[in-house]
Amino acid sequence: MTVDRIAQLRAEILERTRELVRLREAPKAFTPGQTTVPYAGRVYDEEEVAAGVSSMLDFWLTLGPEGEAFEKELASLLGVRRSLLVNSGSSANLVAFAALTSHKLGDRRILPGDEVITVAAGFPTTVAPIIQNGAVPVFIDNDPITGNARIDRLEDAYVPGKTKAVMMAHTLGNPFDLGEVTRFCKDKGLWLIEDNCDSLGSRYGEAYTGTFGDLSTQSFYPPHHMTLGEGGAVNIVSQPLLKTLVESFRDWGRDCWCASGIDNTCKKRFEWQLGELPKGYDHKYIYSHLGYNVKPLDPQAAIGRAQLKKLPAFIQARIDNWNYLRAALAPLEDQIEFSLPTHATAWNPSGFTWVAGKPMVSPSWFGFMMLVRPGARITRTDLARALDAAKIGNRMLFGGNLVRQPAFVQLKADTIGAGFRVVGDLAGADRIMNEALFVGTYPGLRPEYLEHMTSTIASAVQG
Ligand SMILES: Cc1ncc(COP(=O)(O)O)c(C=O)c1O
Repeated sequence: MTVDRIAQLRAEILERTRELVRLREAPKAFTPGQTTVPYAGRVYDEEEVAAGVSSMLDFWLTLGPEGEAFEKELASLLGVRRSLLVNSGSSANLVAFAALTSHKLGDRRILPGDEVITVAAGFPTTVAPIIQNGAVPVFIDNDPITGNARIDRLEDAYVPGKTKAVMMAHTLGNPFDLGEVTRFCKDKGLWLIEDNCDSLGSRYGEAYTGTFGDLSTQSFYPPHHMTLGEGGAVNIVSQPLLKTLVESFRDWGRDCWCASGIDNTCKKRFEWQLGELPKGYDHKYIYSHLGYNVKPLDPQAAIGRAQLKKLPAFIQARIDNWNYLRAALAPLEDQIEFSLPTHATAWNPSGFTWVAGKPMVSPSWFGFMMLVRPGARITRTDLARALDAAKIGNRMLFGGNLVRQPAFVQLKADTIGAGFRVVGDLAGADRIMNEALFVGTYPGLRPEYLEHMTSTIASAVQG
């Protein structure tokens, strides 16, 4: 009787929830210049809210059945061994990098003072974990047109015996040259961490980005391709041991791999002897690493599972929106230099021209990047102001040239740590810092928003 009543109440609550969302989210009128056009944001309907509420009613709270299902679904969508949920993309980068410092990796572990090649312009928490773990980031320049690392600088950055890994992001959804980078890492025996936070659904050739490195990371913060509110994931690509290590760093550094609420998965809970602990010390409280606790909650995973179902449509909308903006803004080419996907040499209304012999890439665009040419009628900042005045969301390429950020200037000045190293000039990263701006491509951009964006940009640039 009570069970029936509980089921009935749950059904009623969920039906009311769905009705509330349908009413609240009905399309609103658009007034150019008054309605805000964000550069990105949550795209959801009653499905996500009902999934979240249903999970809250279960009140499991910590990562549980929904989390486990989400991890399997994400891993199978990408085609990786495993995906592990964390509470942000930054946490994903942190635990992915920390995993590679584990003593369980023997000679291949990354030790304090070892070097890691990365790219100068981008998001700070792609680089911060390198420093936080005592290693030294070695910055190479960006190609300002693709936004990605200049792979011709990789060899110069490499120091035998010191360089241990490459860790960088696919900029704004545009895959970096995975062909060359994976070949370089293989030749030199380096780890590769792909920061795939802005690139879920991008393809390099046939395969998804995030499936080429040893590890890759996702962010599910609202502007990203799908959202859990806060959230992220580490994808385990190359070897099963990495799953145990990432999980250990995610879960307090423990040696035990029992899921939450479960004891004795290893069937030897009181038989281990590790470190200098007495034999039989409870495996649940044995710590093989200095870890964190960066797990999200189960209701977030429930929301994520509803989002995953929409991901193919979200990716297509991002591609369509980028194509619309590119075609509509083509007449501004003398004032604005537009991004190109890696391995493309030119855009034309029917597609891209590709470098012969290289795979085609299909970016699942995070944004539409423009470089305002130095001789243009207005500056990048003028364009940003014009977009702001028209209530159109716009962003710089995150931190621009990171070595010019106060945190990195301070790092250089401080005596703590080895700081960082720069290889060659960073002219491309400086161009991005001075000239780049991006607007949205996210699936919530209605046709009238896109039209307002292009007409605002055109009148700002042409006067
Ligand atoms: C390339 C890249 N990596 C990592 C992150 C961090 O993700 P989160 O905001 O979920 O910590 C971001 C943030 O947007 C990002 O753009």
